[in-house]
Amino acid sequence: MKAKDLKVLRKKFLRVDRIGSPLDDSIVAAQLNDILSGPWKLKYFAGPSAPSDSLIDLFERNMGDFYRKSSWGLDLVQKAEDLAHRRARHLVVYDDNEHMAAYCHYQYDYDDEENPERVVFYVYELQIEEKYQRMGLGTKLMKCMEYLAQSADLDSILLTVFFENTSAMAFYQNLGYEVDISSPSVFNQRKDYEILFKKVDAL
Ligand SMILES: CC(C)(COP(=O)(O)OP(=O)(O)OC[C@H]1O[C@@H](n2cnc3c(N)ncnc32)[C@H](O)[C@@H]1OP(=O)(O)O)[C@@H](O)C(=O)NCCC(=O)NCCS
Repeated sequence: MKAKDLKVLRKKFLRVDRIGSPLDDSIVAAQLNDILSGPWKLKYFAGPSAPSDSLIDLFERNMGDFYRKSSWGLDLVQKAEDLAHRRARHLVVYDDNEHMAAYCHYQYDYDDEENPERVVFYVYELQIEEKYQRMGLGTKLMKCMEYLAQSADLDSILLTVFFENTSAMAFYQNLGYEVDISSPSVFNQRKDYEILFKKVDAL
């Protein structure tokens, strides 16, 4: 990428990096609550203030087996660091008993730290409590993610899914996600995960 284009990209990155809690913006908060509807309460946490123990607990129950079987293995110390990262953002859903029902970990990132081409909205985690799965909550949370990407003026959502996680793969395909140009399969590399992409329109 040319130096001039890199400068524009860097400026875009610095702009989204400064975005604060979406719930502090009354218009964005109202839209998110509208998308979510139902008996849910939304909270937002910046990485270092995240309720790491609860996030990791749900992550391990939902994803532990996939990670243990994967080439990455399950590293909960690393996971705790990722969740508490300065750039990590968490939208957490609570039920009417104040129990965590679901969460999304998202970040505004470069698509590639070494050779950036795009500033993207990366969804690192979408975790729904088992008893709340298949009730449309995941779909609503991904709609919230799309809205947050749009409101940050970003048009690319990226996420990573294990091939083994066939239910998540079906879920994302149902929402219109496709294989991203950066996914290992595009380069005929045999990995146990795929990087998925969805383009969202400007607001
Ligand atoms: C995958 C997950 C995020 C989906 O969220 P959800 O709230 O359960 O899904 P929704 O109810 O919104 O499902 C919407 C559609 O996705 C597809 N889908 C969802 N779960 C599915 C499953 N287990 N098998 C097949 N298709 C599925 C269906 O088409 C479904 O529509 P339908 O219920 O009308 O058939 C959720 O089940 C979950 O947290 N799973 C464990 C953690 C995980 O895998 N996270 C993703 C990591 S990348």
